[in-house]
Amino acid sequence: MVKKIFSGVQPSGNLHLGNYLGAIKNFVDLQNQKNTECVYCIVDLHAITIKQEPKDLKKNIIETLATFVASGIDSKKSIIFNQSSVPAHAEGSWILSCVARMGWLNRMTQFKEKAGKDKEKASVGLYAYPVLMASDILLYDATHVPVGHDQKQHLELCRDIAQRFNSDFNAADFLKVPEPLIQKNFSRIMSLKDATKKMSKSDPSDLSRINLTDDRDLIISKIKKAKTDSKPMPSIDENLEKRPEAENLLGIYSSLSNQNLERSKKEFEGKNFSEFKRKLSDLLVDKISPISDEIKKLLNDKKYLDDILLEGSKKANEIAYKKIKEMKKLIGF
Ligand code: AMP
Ligand code: TRP
Repeated sequence: MVKKIFSGVQPSGNLHLGNYLGAIKNFVDLQNQKNTECVYCIVDLHAITIKQEPKDLKKNIIETLATFVASGIDSKKSIIFNQSSVPAHAEGSWILSCVARMGWLNRMTQFKEKAGKDKEKASVGLYAYPVLMASDILLYDATHVPVGHDQKQHLELCRDIAQRFNSDFNAADFLKVPEPLIQKNFSRIMSLKDATKKMSKSDPSDLSRINLTDDRDLIISKIKKAKTDSKPMPSIDENLEKRPEAENLLGIYSSLSNQNLERSKKEFEGKNFSEFKRKLSDLLVDKISPISDEIKKLLNDKKYLDDILLEGSKKANEIAYKKIKEMKKLIGF
């Protein structure tokens, strides 16, 4: 059976190691597996749920695309496009917002976190955000959606919406109910400054994250400054629950070297943090610097990047237009 993969990343700047290990690295692995058809979307409509400077948004869309390509997403193998260039996403989102229930959306923890204390001032778009996400996924009959752990709840909502649409319109199996694909080992990369918070582009401290555009020296200095505790590296059977910094850094090491946590623990058991940090920096420089160099190179060739989006949008439009047409027919339009 062919696996149809769909995922999206917001063009909100500062793509970081968490985005890479939680999402983009997976996108590349899936693209290179047999029997997969992959669609990767730069979700610019999602980005405007929070106020964006038009000039910055434009720049961030191109930078996100450059990051995709530099990380190994190949426009010959995968469809890469930006959401606002395919009108069916917004149209589908409206239709599905008439299927989704307020009670379902009220449970979304990401909205609560992002809206903060003053919910009244959040945009309606921020509240309806997961419905647009469902539209993205369902228009492409996606069977699998690779995302970081923070998107699990939105995926569950998407499944509920699909099932509800199918039953409301007596169209069994019309919208495909997708499976989340969440990294088993390290689906949450935490801040380098506070391992109880996830690594995030919105953290005011740049030292809290490794950006995919950071150069070698910056990576080394950020790892040097990363928070640790005063004990030596943990032993194999030590429970890391109370040592979140050690767990996070070892997790990053494990993910980048494609080995499990146990093996990494064994490699560094009882050693000093400084020795481990040196190895971790080397590995990060080895994996991330080629990506950041390639991003810089690609950004000098805007025409090449624009052409990728144009071609991807054409292909995406064809698929999404067909699905929305059938959807409208079922509704009675
Ligand atoms: P966003 O930048 O919020 O659009 O996220 C893009 C993708 O990266 C989503 O699949 C997220 O789940 C994933 N992601 C973002 N931050 C992290 C993190 N700290 N750890 C793991 N995955 C993440
Ligand atoms: N909401 C996702 C995030 O913030 C991005 C996203 C939008 C997405 N549409 C999607 C992810 C569809 C997977 C599938 O990370």
